[in-house]
Amino acid sequence: MPVTYHRSGATGVITIDNPPVNATSQAVRAGLIEAARAFAADESARAAVILCAGRTWVAGADISEFGKPPQDPSLPDVIAAIEALPKPVVAAIHGTALGGGLELALGCHARIAAPGTRMGLPEVTLGLLPGAGGTQRLPRLIGLMPALEMITSARQMGTAEARDLGLIDAVASDDLTDAALQMAERLAGQPPRRTCDLPAPPADPTATETLTADLARKLPGQIAQRAAVDAATEGLALPFAQGMEVERAAFRALMDSPQRAALIHAFFAERAVAHLPQIKGVDPRPLDRIGVIGGGTMGAGIAAACLLAGLDVTLIERDAAAADTARATVAKLLEGAVTRGKLAAPARDAILTDAFRTATDYAALSDADLIIEAVFETMEVKHQVFAELDRVAKPGAVLATNTSYLDVNAIAAATSRPADVIGLHFFSPAHVMRLLEVVVADRTAPEVTATGFALAKRLKKIAVRAGVCDGFIGNRILSHYRAAVDAMVLDGASPYQVDRALTGFGFAMGPYAVSDLAGLDIGWMTRQRKAATRHPRDRVPVFADRLYELGRLGRKSGRGYYLYDGGKPQPDPELEPLLAQVRADLGIAPRDFTDAQIVERTMAALVNEAVRTVADGTALRPLDVDVVMLNGYGFPRWRGGPMHWADAQGLPQILAQIDALSAEDDHFWQAAPLLRDLVAQGRRLAELNEGPKP
Ligand code: CAA
Ligand code: NAI
Repeated sequence: MPVTYHRSGATGVITIDNPPVNATSQAVRAGLIEAARAFAADESARAAVILCAGRTWVAGADISEFGKPPQDPSLPDVIAAIEALPKPVVAAIHGTALGGGLELALGCHARIAAPGTRMGLPEVTLGLLPGAGGTQRLPRLIGLMPALEMITSARQMGTAEARDLGLIDAVASDDLTDAALQMAERLAGQPPRRTCDLPAPPADPTATETLTADLARKLPGQIAQRAAVDAATEGLALPFAQGMEVERAAFRALMDSPQRAALIHAFFAERAVAHLPQIKGVDPRPLDRIGVIGGGTMGAGIAAACLLAGLDVTLIERDAAAADTARATVAKLLEGAVTRGKLAAPARDAILTDAFRTATDYAALSDADLIIEAVFETMEVKHQVFAELDRVAKPGAVLATNTSYLDVNAIAAATSRPADVIGLHFFSPAHVMRLLEVVVADRTAPEVTATGFALAKRLKKIAVRAGVCDGFIGNRILSHYRAAVDAMVLDGASPYQVDRALTGFGFAMGPYAVSDLAGLDIGWMTRQRKAATRHPRDRVPVFADRLYELGRLGRKSGRGYYLYDGGKPQPDPELEPLLAQVRADLGIAPRDFTDAQIVERTMAALVNEAVRTVADGTALRPLDVDVVMLNGYGFPRWRGGPMHWADAQGLPQILAQIDALSAEDDHFWQAAPLLRDLVAQGRRLAELNEGPKP
């Protein structure tokens, strides 16, 4: 029984117990209706408390029911039944009150929260709007604009802010249940204060239009936020019951939208990657003391991420000056955390004094549990570092490389303990980006893999298992679709048009703006490394080499594809003549591409290479690719990731595009055999997320 009713003195106690997060599954909804009836019929009960067992109050609707036929009773009906009760009901909230969970609390007649409780309406992150009265009750309780801000941002708020806004009535100073029972006793005998009976706040067309314009600018293409604003404002102009109907209709429309399906796929995919079958039941090794080698861009970011998660870090640099620079960089990153309110200044000072050390002698790593190398990207330097680690690291220490592309098996071979070696591929900036590719080499021990996943959890990152290959999952796919994009620029497209077309599709940044951010030297070095093994028919982005040779390294030199006068990227009038010269030198007659062609070719290349990563086991499943591209490469979340998107488009269509393009270049455009097989069998990529490969 996920919902029970009992009495404590003159107060009815309704307990929801539906682990892990007390989601309002059908059984919970039905149980709440039953419990509400029991309370109404219990003449000895003068008021009631609803509370939750376990780690949290109701964290929302049961997302796993979405997309399936709805089952009665609906959550709005359950909340309406509770709100209509003739005796007061107190919500006793702890943990997270999210979505339908917060809406349930809004339908109660008073709310008290434990310290540390977080409250929010995250529905828009799932492509939905609050569909159980949130758009109608919340504005009545806290005002129109605070409510719309909360709904459209999906922001979670703490108890102090919630109390100031009137979202909750009190914060429990001691035991939550005792405090809620006392509140119920105080309210007993009084008429219930129903949120639905509060007057609707007046419309504020100017503020609402400003918000809508902001949303259109910041979240192009996304429909849920706008629908939430419309439902709230339209509904509030009507009596409550009709407002609820407006909300319901808008909720149903969103429930049927592809964006909802994509965002919920992303939600579950991000949780599925953590359940790696190969390490089920395998205990990770300890990871309290972390070693980091190299304090450049990545090493400093990794050190900061570990320190912010409460780990002890020793960072090794080449000499004292480099060690001092690294220390200063780490201190600056921690300062940023203080400025953003993520870390208290005294805690920052304690970290820098007690938890963080820099050194130049590898002997300082002798007691480290896990050592992450982030030195220059050449096999020679990596070999030197790993040979040295083999000498100093304690037995059982995990030895990790942050290499972007290099062969982790070859790096492991520099040690006498390849079972302890793993790739931990962080993304820049490492203390911010949530993705971590855990690169499992041929001889990596399962408990070492488990330690990589445990580190990600500790750092609140999303770990995705990847196999060894050039670039693992993300960079390998990126290299391939970058080649398609560069080919279009060689053939006549402008980098600005490419960036515009792909941000129009929803990418966070266009590929040329990304190049400028990373530095054009990075791409140049990669091309140098691959030059010897390049296929004669691979097309080289000669224009990128020219820019590099001109010292146009991107943002850091003030000029790359764009100009950075005052920091803001501006198109550079000198770029087009440079491109024209390159095309003339190569004997290419430039042609035009439409934005749609740019998107089509980029996505066809991306999906094709992604399917290959699944086929050869680099990625375990299509959903692993989606999680990587969503969290490391700015792929639009509301499209669910490239594999989800490909299924939604239809694999036959993508295969037909690739086959058509192979008439133009049959070296680059070769359909992945797995893609062809899936189309022949009438199957979707999503089927590979569950069952065996065809
Ligand atoms: N429905 C079903 N399952 C859920 C769920 C939900 N709403 N929320 C979490 N879970 C599951 C997760 O899938 C996970 O399952 P596995 O262990 O099998 O992977 C488990 O609960 C634990 O979740 P997390 O790993 O995310 O745990 P956490 O402690 O890191 O975070 C949380 C807990 C903050 C509640 C987080 O899970 C979360 O944000 N959940 C989603 C909350 C949400 O979006 N609620 C709104 C739903 S929409 C809605 O309510 C619409 C409406 O108005 C009718
Ligand atoms: P970087 O050039 O900023 O830093 C490298 C640091 O390593 C320098 O500070 C250098 O002094 C130090 N170093 C070199 N040899 C050393 C040695 N033997 N012992 C101790 N320190 C040594 O390079 P960056 O960008 O931090 O990259 C490091 C690694 O991370 C590379 O393998 C790179 O491919 C990878 N990576 C880089 C990403 C990025 O966006 N920059 C993203 C993900 C991975």
